[in-house]
Amino acid sequence: MPKVRFEPSGIEVEVPAGTRLMAAADQAARQTDAEFFRGECCEGRLECGNCCLEILKGMENLSPAGDDELSLLAVVAPKSNAKAWRASCAAEVHGDVTARVPER
Ligand code: FES
Repeated sequence: MPKVRFEPSGIEVEVPAGTRLMAAADQAARQTDAEFFRGECCEGRLECGNCCLEILKGMENLSPAGDDELSLLAVVAPKSNAKAWRASCAAEVHGDVTARVPER
């Protein structure tokens, strides 16, 4: 099963291929008191941007971003490295990934 590591906590979880990155983050968050997402979540409608994570390794192991996700990332991701960000509610995990949870 793919492994997903979350920085800076270093928590790693294994998930079945095809799992949404957000579900992996929820699994990891249950192992710590840390907040992985800020504020209210739009439950995957690609409206809030609160689930967006920076992908440090394994971008090629995530499903491709669709137009709706790219439009959201153009607004919420840092301009300096927007291509390294994904909406975790939309990205499916198909191999090992390391993601950074932004400071809240
Ligand atoms: S949960 Fe709102 S954009 Fe992902």
